[in-house]
Amino acid sequence: MHFFLLLFQIFRGRSRGIPNVIGAIDGTDIFIKQPFGNAVDYYNRYQSHSVILQAVCDANKKFINISVGHPGRMHDARVFRRSSLYQSIINEDDPLIRPENHIIGDCAYPLLQEVLTPFRNTGHLTNGQIRYNTRFSSIRSIIERAFGLLKGKWKRLKYLDMSDMELLNEVITACCVLRNFIIRQGEQEDDEVENIDEEEEIAPIHVNERRRHVLGEIKREEIMNNLR
Ligand SMILES: *[C@@H]1O[C@H](CO)[C@@H](O)[C@H](O)[C@H]1NC(C)=O
Repeated sequence: MHFFLLLFQIFRGRSRGIPNVIGAIDGTDIFIKQPFGNAVDYYNRYQSHSVILQAVCDANKKFINISVGHPGRMHDARVFRRSSLYQSIINEDDPLIRPENHIIGDCAYPLLQEVLTPFRNTGHLTNGQIRYNTRFSSIRSIIERAFGLLKGKWKRLKYLDMSDMELLNEVITACCVLRNFIIRQGEQEDDEVENIDEEEEIAPIHVNERRRHVLGEIKREEIMNNLR
């Protein structure tokens, strides 16, 4: 099964001033039952087991490249570096993506000529950098919507009760292929499904949790130091 990574820019007119975008990349967890053997590798940040689907989508939310079956514990950057997409991108003898073009990803991805990421928010971003990040994230979010629609269409992808990893990967791939087929047929998208799924993607860990965790650590440290 082969997807087609188009080598010309396709976000024209929808790129909000960020030129030469050929696709947006991200990873999503596909929850599975606890696998035999190396279950620890599949144990994810949501305290359950999953495999990661890495995908690049185009402006129509069509999947133009996917990589399946990475264990849920693995971070996006590592998944990316293990994928054949990365190997082709990094191959300087036969470059996959022309130097002026790029795919776009969030800060988890390494910044490369072929992969653009937002400016990391260090608290002192310039207005220009903020404007770039805002525009950037509004087009990058298309991959999150693509995942939302995929899982909305094939609800089985919310939890795959399978132990055969090979079959599991085939099912995920098939779902992506069928989703592309539907897009090609021009079927209307179900916006309601899309919104529900987007929320679910973000919900498990609240954005404030990290900060609150740090505050909690400081407090605990203080209490500990004051004990006699
Ligand atoms: C993704 O792109 C890489 C690089 O072109 C290719 O090797 C791989 O087969 C592609 N994956 C799919 C599923 O099309």
